[in-house]
Amino acid sequence: MGLLKDIGSWRRGAKLQRRLRDLTGTLVVVTGAGSGIGRETALAFAAEGAIVVVCDVNLESAQDTAALINLPASAGGAEAVFGGGAHAYHVDVSDEQAMTRFAETVAAHHGVPDIVVNNAGIGFSGTFADTTVAQFERVMNINFWGVVYGCRAFSPMMIKRGSGGHIVNLSSAAAYTPQKALTAYSTSKAAVFMLSDCLRAELLPHGIGVSTICPGIVDTNIVKTTEFAGTTAAEQLRNQTKADNFYRRRNFTPDRVASAIVKAVRTNKAIVPVTPEAKLGYRLSRFYPSSMRVGARINAL
Ligand SMILES: NC(=O)c1ccc[n+]([C@@H]2O[C@H](COP(=O)([O-])OP(=O)(O)OC[C@H]3O[C@@H](n4cnc5c(N)ncnc54)[C@H](O)[C@@H]3O)[C@@H](O)[C@H]2O)c1
Repeated sequence: MGLLKDIGSWRRGAKLQRRLRDLTGTLVVVTGAGSGIGRETALAFAAEGAIVVVCDVNLESAQDTAALINLPASAGGAEAVFGGGAHAYHVDVSDEQAMTRFAETVAAHHGVPDIVVNNAGIGFSGTFADTTVAQFERVMNINFWGVVYGCRAFSPMMIKRGSGGHIVNLSSAAAYTPQKALTAYSTSKAAVFMLSDCLRAELLPHGIGVSTICPGIVDTNIVKTTEFAGTTAAEQLRNQTKADNFYRRRNFTPDRVASAIVKAVRTNKAIVPVTPEAKLGYRLSRFYPSSMRVGARINAL
């Protein structure tokens, strides 16, 4: 009896989420939207007719994203419809109180969001031995706890409203591709991966879908700001430049991740590996996991 009741609530939830096949007039929140995948995601939702609330720890960059969205299409913008346009806020996602205040402000000024994209994140590289506890904590605070705070701040109001919605969490192919010298980053992203899958089951009866995005190697600003543990300033700069050149040559642009995110919301997809290497890694991790452990021993760059 209990299971039958559950199945009924899953079906009702899935039906409720399906209203997001049409994104016109929806309210979308994107964290870390001042650059890369976050900026392109905000632009992509705006181009679908959504009203977008963007935030970043760097307010100016979030304001630039909002300005791009508010520009008419003829001037290269996404031409926000509905007059709501895009709105920019300063938020550090690793600050729980700031995230809660942000959610309250969004609800008061713009309404309860239909879609929340927990995108803000940082790169971090270096062996476990070289990584200090403070560095490990910083990675977890932004990449993992930032996502937890985002889900905690917005999901109760979405549940209360009762008309469903969607949460998108940015994980990484690193979540299922172990690599030496990427311990802290991979751990933070694996935590996001599992958090999102658990949450997906919990929020289904409320009509709220949850998607886990695993981009792969995408040409953004991420490696330019990646810290390399145990290196001097000169070595750090050399590593960042080398990695950045590699990401540029790979040439997978963030707008393609943004398209995958929009599609994931429309189709309520659970796990979304985006680049070909992210897709291949996902399959290998499921069907041939020992190959991933061997691969982990090889220097990635
Ligand atoms: N680029 C890739 O290859 C790649 C691969 C896998 C996963 N990802 C993930 O995608 C997400 C976006 O990364 P990106 O590649 O667009 O990087 P990016 O550096 O271009 O953009 C990240 C944005 O997040 C913001 N940010 C950083 N810390 C923040 C904080 N504490 N609070 C609020 N905003 C903060 C930055 O200011 C920046 O605008 C991240 O979670 C990243 O881990 C990226």
